[in-house]
Amino acid sequence: VSIAVFASGSGSNFQSLVEVARQEHWPEQISLLICDRPGAKVLKRAQALDVESYALAPKSFAAKAKYEQAVLEILKQFQIRWIVLAGYMRLIGPTLLTAYSNRIVNIHPSLLPAFPGKNAIEQAFSYPVKVSGVTIHFVDEGMDTGPIIAQTPIEIAPEDTIETFAKKVHQVEHKLYPRVVYDLITGKISCPSLD
Ligand code: GRF
Repeated sequence: VSIAVFASGSGSNFQSLVEVARQEHWPEQISLLICDRPGAKVLKRAQALDVESYALAPKSFAAKAKYEQAVLEILKQFQIRWIVLAGYMRLIGPTLLTAYSNRIVNIHPSLLPAFPGKNAIEQAFSYPVKVSGVTIHFVDEGMDTGPIIAQTPIEIAPEDTIETFAKKVHQVEHKLYPRVVYDLITGKISCPSLD
């Protein structure tokens, strides 16, 4: 049994998860990357890290359920127990939510419920709020909703630019996500609805 990361973009969180899991000899490793954008940079990272990856274009399926069914088949082959979303720009549908109920987590670059959806770093910076941050939560059918597991606040200082602020956010993400995923796979935390 192991962990699959779903990602659509750059994949810096994917990389940090893979590296930390290996360094710390986790009982379950990141053994699979699912990417919905053929050509995304994360696929190159997977290759460099020697992690199996599948790039499936949802558009090439007749319906979202068919796409998710295809993903589900791959997850079964790899005996995947946990789904970790890391910049996966797509809502999870009923097919995967039912199969992986309470076993899907997401990272979002704001203090939810503030600034859900796309471009959360830019949204917070240009609002402008004084404090934003990072949230990790269990995934339900909504966009960036579901029970919150961990949050770290990050100050937007007067001297910050969008670039320096974004860098701070990513640095926090790369530390926080591996900690939470480790606690999840070792049973230290579980979804409230499981209790
Ligand atoms: C991260 O900021 C994450 O919080 C958000 O998408 C971004 C992904 O970055 N959901 P990367 O692809 O891991 O570099």
